Amino acid sequence: MKKDIKEVLLTKEVIQERVMEMGQEIDRHFHGREIIIITLLDGAIVFTADLIRNLAIPLRLDCLRVSSYGDSTDPETAPRILSSLKSDVSGKHVLIVDDILDTGNTLQSVSNEVLSQKPASVHSCVFLDKPDRRENGFKADWSGFSIPDEFVVGYGLDYAGRYRQLPYVGTLKPSIYS
Ligand code: IMP
Ligand code: MG
Repeated sequence: MKKDIKEVLLTKEVIQERVMEMGQEIDRHFHGREIIIITLLDGAIVFTADLIRNLAIPLRLDCLRVSSYGDSTDPETAPRILSSLKSDVSGKHVLIVDDILDTGNTLQSVSNEVLSQKPASVHSCVFLDKPDRRENGFKADWSGFSIPDEFVVGYGLDYAGRYRQLPYVGTLKPSIYS
């Protein structure tokens, strides 16, 4: 694993500190109101697991399986929502959690889907943001780190399904792609 990494962009310690801060910001925003967290599988599971342990507000957890990359590093134009929610989100405060906001297509389509179910509010929280890649005006309400337009792995993010377990975020050596 480690031998495939070109450069570590975010260390485990830096990530831990920031996720703790994000938890405090989200707690302050919702001050005591219950939220439903919708986490986007598979990439957001590591971030979500750490984030919820830094939240004091009451919450329930739901998951959506979304596929946008397959085995390549290019997103398909239309992300596919491959599962449905177990919760009734109507009248509830929803927080959508994803690993990375890239073109914005995934969060845009998931937000639209959630909005169609008449929640009390919809917010979004992403671990990483690549603002240079945005294809729409989507903005996350909370974002952990802004990063340049480079493909990264670790902390839940994968390349062809691998590297999700790395506790840090890094770039891959070019030899891995070829
Ligand atoms: P978007 O729909 O283009 O915003 O893409 C969001 C999804 O693309 C994320 O949930 C990730 O699964 C995937 N993605 C985007 N950039 C990267 C990356 O650098 N590494 C791994 N996955 C990525
Ligand atoms: Mg993903």
